[in-house]
Amino acid sequence: MTKVTYTSHAGDVRVVDGADGDSVMQTAVRNGVDGIVGECGGVLSCATCHVFVDEADFQRLPPRSDLEDEMLEGTAVDRKRCSRLSCQIQLSAAFGPISVTTPEYQE
Ligand code: FES
Repeated sequence: MTKVTYTSHAGDVRVVDGADGDSVMQTAVRNGVDGIVGECGGVLSCATCHVFVDEADFQRLPPRSDLEDEMLEGTAVDRKRCSRLSCQIQLSAAFGPISVTTPEYQE
């Protein structure tokens, strides 16, 4: 299990235990976390799983793929430097806990 902290745009915090191997998006959807839709199920075709990753965690993540980078151009709320698509972030005990903030809205 790996802890994921989801902070909403409004500042509400939810901490959820996720299964290693699951994505940050899957963990949010399974636990009813608001602010992450995951419409395409994680196949990089919707961008409704956009999150802003905590700066320190962002630095430790593997880099985005070219397709993820391209999809981040079509998010409902403009991307920032630490933007990621949460379906592309896999939980692992080796990485440890991760914190993300959800955008104001997703479409
Ligand atoms: S869930 Fe569709 S791109 Fe992440």
